[in-house]
Amino acid sequence: MDAVSSFFRRGSRYSPLPTNALAEQPEGETRYRRRRRVKLAAGVLILVVVGYLATASLRSETRECDTPEQGFQCNNAVSHSWGQYSPYFTVPSVIDASVPEGCELTFAQILSRHGARAPTINRAAEYDALVRRIHHAVTKYGPGYEFLRAYNYTLGADDLTPMGEQQMVNSGVKFYHRYRSLASKTAPFVRAGDQGRVVNSARNWTRGFHEALVRDGTSPSPKPSFPYAILAIPETPETNNTLHHGLCTAFESGPYSAVGSAAQAVFRAVFAPPITARLNANLGDANLGDTDAIALMDLCPFTTVALTPPAGKLPPFCALFTPDEWHSYDYYQSLGKWYGFGRGNPLGPTQGVGFVNELLARLTGEPVRDATCSNATLNGDAATFPLGRALYADFSHDNDMMAVLAALGVYAAAGMPDNTTRRGPAESAGFAASWAVPFAARVYVEKMRCRGVDEEMVRVLVNDRVVGLPGCGVDVWGRCALGRFVESMAFARGNGRWDWCFA
Ligand SMILES: *[C@@H]1O[C@H](CO)[C@@H](O)[C@H](O)[C@H]1NC(C)=O
Ligand SMILES: *[C@@H]1O[C@H](CO)[C@@H](O)[C@H](O)[C@H]1NC(C)=O
Ligand SMILES: *[C@@H]1O[C@H](CO)[C@@H](O)[C@H](O)[C@H]1NC(C)=O
Ligand SMILES: *[C@@H]1O[C@H](CO)[C@@H](O)[C@H](O)[C@H]1NC(C)=O
Ligand SMILES: *[C@@H]1O[C@H](CO)[C@@H](O)[C@H](O)[C@H]1NC(C)=O
Repeated sequence: MDAVSSFFRRGSRYSPLPTNALAEQPEGETRYRRRRRVKLAAGVLILVVVGYLATASLRSETRECDTPEQGFQCNNAVSHSWGQYSPYFTVPSVIDASVPEGCELTFAQILSRHGARAPTINRAAEYDALVRRIHHAVTKYGPGYEFLRAYNYTLGADDLTPMGEQQMVNSGVKFYHRYRSLASKTAPFVRAGDQGRVVNSARNWTRGFHEALVRDGTSPSPKPSFPYAILAIPETPETNNTLHHGLCTAFESGPYSAVGSAAQAVFRAVFAPPITARLNANLGDANLGDTDAIALMDLCPFTTVALTPPAGKLPPFCALFTPDEWHSYDYYQSLGKWYGFGRGNPLGPTQGVGFVNELLARLTGEPVRDATCSNATLNGDAATFPLGRALYADFSHDNDMMAVLAALGVYAAAGMPDNTTRRGPAESAGFAASWAVPFAARVYVEKMRCRGVDEEMVRVLVNDRVVGLPGCGVDVWGRCALGRFVESMAFARGNGRWDWCFA
C-alpha cells in the first residue's frame, strides 16, 4: 500500500488528495494508484472504498510511530541509538525551533542525507558471509538465538528501502509546511550526488514537497510541474562535487584516511568484548570476534529499515542486545563519524568547505568564491547555480554532511570525544551520529528578516534542533546577523586546509 496516500488519508489534519492531484506526474503513479485504476476500470469502486475503510485503521496504527513531523519514534529507547543507521527522528532542541515572532523567513536551504537504505555492497557481502559462517559452525543455538538458524541475508545492497523512500517523501512534506511562506510561492532548486539512492531520495522529497503544495491549493508562479528538475553531479573520484568528497588525496588514501577507524578500534576493545563473549556462549563454535559482534548489531537497524511498514515491533536481531549496549554502539559510530569526517580529522572540515562557500554565495547573492572542490563551470552558470532563489535542496551522504557541519563549526563546543569513555549526545553539544546524520537526516539553514532589525538573521537546525554557531554572536534564538555569519566562516572562505590534500 502506498504509504504517502495512507499518510495523507489518515488523521484529521490532512484530508485525502483529490484523485487527479497527481495526474501530471508521469512517474508519480504509485502501486496504489495503478492498482486502484485497474479496479476503477473494472467498475468496482465500492469494493475499493470498503477495502480502504477496512485497512485504514490498521495502516494508521502501523504508521503512527513514523510521521513526517516527528520521524521514527518506534521503540525509541533503542532505535535512536543506532548511529547513522537510526532512522531520522526529531532531535530535542534546547532553543525553540519555531520561527520567532515578528520574523519573516526569506531563505531556506536543506542539505539532506538519503533515506534508509540496504547495507552498502561491501558490507552486504560481509553480513552474508558472517551468517553463512554461523550456519556452518553452530549446531546449538541458545535461547533467543534460534531465529538465526533460519535467517538468510536477503537485504540486497545500496538501494533505498521502501521506508527510506517514504522518509524522503515525509521530509518534503515537512519542509513544505515549515517553509510554507516561501514554498507556496516558489519551487526549490534541487541538486543531488549522482548515485541511485541519492537521486531517488531527491525525487521522493520533491514528490512530498509537491503533494503538499498541491494540497495547499495555492498557485505559485510559475507553477512547478512535477517531476522537478534535479541537477545530478557525478560522484566519480575525479569530479569536483561539493556534495561528495573524493578529490583530496591525503584524506582519501593518505595519512588522514584512517583516523576514524583508529578511534573506533580503541572503543571497540572497550565495549564489545562482553557482547562477543555472550554471543559466543549462545552460538557455540561460531568463534566470533568483536567486529562480528558489531556486524550482528548492524543487522538490527538494517532489518528494521527493510520492514514495510515501519516497525512497531523490532526484528529479532535487536533483542540480542541491551539498551545500554545500543548506547555504546551509538558512541562507537559517533567516533567513526567525528574522527573520520568531522572535527576530529585534520582534513574532515576541509571536505565541507566547498559546500559552505556555495551556501555563502546563496545567502548573500554573490558569486561562489572557492578553490576547493566546487565546479566553477557549474557554479558560473545561472542554469546550474542560480542565485537569488529562496529555496534550495541538496541531497548527499552522511559523511559529506559531517564534513559540512564541521566546516560550519557546528558542535565546536563538543570537545574531542574520548576514545575509551562513552558520552551521550546531550553532554556533547548535541553530537552523536544518530542525532546528526541518521537516515534522511536534514540540515536547515534559514534566513529571516525581523521587525526592528536591519540585517537579515541566519540560523542552522540539525534534525529540528537549533544549533548555535560559534564566533558570530548568536542570540537566544540561535541566530547570527548575516554579516557576522559570513565573517565567521573564515575557515571556509580561506579554503580550509585544501593545500594539505596534495602535500
Ligand atoms: C536459507 O538458505 C539455505 C541455503 O541456501 C536454504 O536451504 C534455506 O531454505 C534458506 N532459508 C530460508 C528461510 O529462506
Ligand atoms: C521514490 O522514487 C523512486 C524513483 O523515482 C520511485 O520509483 C518510488 O516510487 C518513489 N517512492 C515513493 C514512496 O514515492
Ligand atoms: C564541471 O562541470 C562541467 C559541467 O557539468 C563538467 O563538464 C566538468 O567535467 C566538471 N569538471 C569537474 C572537474 O568536475
Ligand atoms: C582518538 O583516536 C584518534 C585516532 O587515533 C586520535 O586522533 C584522537 O586524538 C583520539 N582522541 C582522544 C581524545 O585522545
Ligand atoms: C576542480 O577543483 C580543482 C581543485 O581541486 C580546481 O583546481 C579546478 O579548477 C576545479 N575545476 C573546475 C571546473 O572548477
